Amino acid sequence: MNTMNVDYTTKIPNNVNLSEDRQVLKALEGWHPGYMDWWGDMGPEGFQQSLVYLRTAYSVDPRGWAKFDYVRMPEYRWGILLAPQEENRVIPFGEHYGEPAWQEVPGEHRAMLRRLIVIQGDTEPASVEQQRHLGKTAPSLYDLRNLFQVNVEEGRHLWAMVYLLQKYFGRDGREEADELLRRRSGDADSPRMLGAFNEKTPDWLSFFMFTYFTDRDGKMQLHSLAQSGFDPLSRTCRFMLTEEAHHMFVGETGISRVVQRTCEAMKDAGIGDPSDIAKVRALGVIDLPTIQKKLNLHYSLSLDLFGSEVSTNAANAFNAGVKGRYRETQIEDDHRLQNTTYPVLKLVNGQIKRVDEPALTALNMRLRDDYTQDCAKGMLRWNKIISTAGYDFKLTLPNVAFHRQIGEFKDVHATPEGALIDDATWGKRKSGWLPSSDDGDFIASLMTPVTEPGGFAPWISPPKVGIDNKPGDFEYVKIET
Ligand SMILES: [Fe+2]
Ligand SMILES: [Fe+2]
Repeated sequence: MNTMNVDYTTKIPNNVNLSEDRQVLKALEGWHPGYMDWWGDMGPEGFQQSLVYLRTAYSVDPRGWAKFDYVRMPEYRWGILLAPQEENRVIPFGEHYGEPAWQEVPGEHRAMLRRLIVIQGDTEPASVEQQRHLGKTAPSLYDLRNLFQVNVEEGRHLWAMVYLLQKYFGRDGREEADELLRRRSGDADSPRMLGAFNEKTPDWLSFFMFTYFTDRDGKMQLHSLAQSGFDPLSRTCRFMLTEEAHHMFVGETGISRVVQRTCEAMKDAGIGDPSDIAKVRALGVIDLPTIQKKLNLHYSLSLDLFGSEVSTNAANAFNAGVKGRYRETQIEDDHRLQNTTYPVLKLVNGQIKRVDEPALTALNMRLRDDYTQDCAKGMLRWNKIISTAGYDFKLTLPNVAFHRQIGEFKDVHATPEGALIDDATWGKRKSGWLPSSDDGDFIASLMTPVTEPGGFAPWISPPKVGIDNKPGDFEYVKIET
């Protein structure tokens, strides 16, 4: 079988020859009903009978891998797709540097690999759960379709991780696969594994922030796992990254369109000061200071996903050849990191200082730095929209010490500029930096759905181009209740 193309004859589409891998096919078919139950309970609320213009992967060839068509979400073909195997691939880092990549799980690293796959897998259904209410308030059919595209693909990413668990980890892999369907975002008794995936996504601005900042953490993690010496994991993650790009596109362009609309409305109304919140809100658009607060929240929650700056787990995973660095193969060094250091931001005598730490234990910090750089690109685009409209206002990433619950800065308070402050000052000022319940109420008041083709809610601009080059009034979702 050509691994570029996907076999759609089995119940579970795949390019891993499942029809000849009876045991795994059976295990996955056994898991399927539970997945459909989960989708029914925790997937998008409503719209299950609607026809949604979705892309489905039919190949893993980067030159053309998806086709678009109307699909009812429960009939989406969630498949197991791995990027093609690279011939003679070697482990690109760690103690096994240069050795042939593993096609089976090495016994000594089994527990570590399983844990990393479970953590990644847990985030996929979590975001679907977090976003399940948003369909009701979509600002357009275009946005509604994008939400559902992201949701079905996160569902597929869960399948991708479950395949690895069931094929390579025997009985405990199957148990973990069942647990992935049992945990629920925000549940008091069995929450999802990571903090940001238990937060609410109450409105569409949060959704765009989530897909910009939190899906981007996913991108960084997938890039690191795509370097893995365990080849099936590497191939899985490489294909997931092609889908993930769209999720971040939804975030980046979503925020751009909100900023654009706000600037236009301010200009039309002759408002000169973007910080005149009451006046701007009276126009029915989201003021820039509130957008900044949402950004502060989602960026800081996402930074927590990188774990502690200094971490022996991260060092062990690297040494073992299990999890590499962002773009490992493009880095010019020895890829072993035994004798090098990396500057880490730490709290030293009540001050934020850069301290050289062994590069191996500082890998989380390094990945987080790569992430921050990647995040900064969006600021440039959004600020360009603001300055082009003639406004003197800049969206910025808050300091890494701001609003942290994990790592070096979890026990202190800092301003978005990085000045350390005491509890009382934080208590007094935090509603100026993070969304307050009033801010939430205001945004919620704008969230009324627009469902006619080509229509857009007044707080967001239309996109520059349609999905699959469709015209502006294309009916991306044929709503059926
Ligand atoms: Fe994902
Ligand atoms: Fe995603």
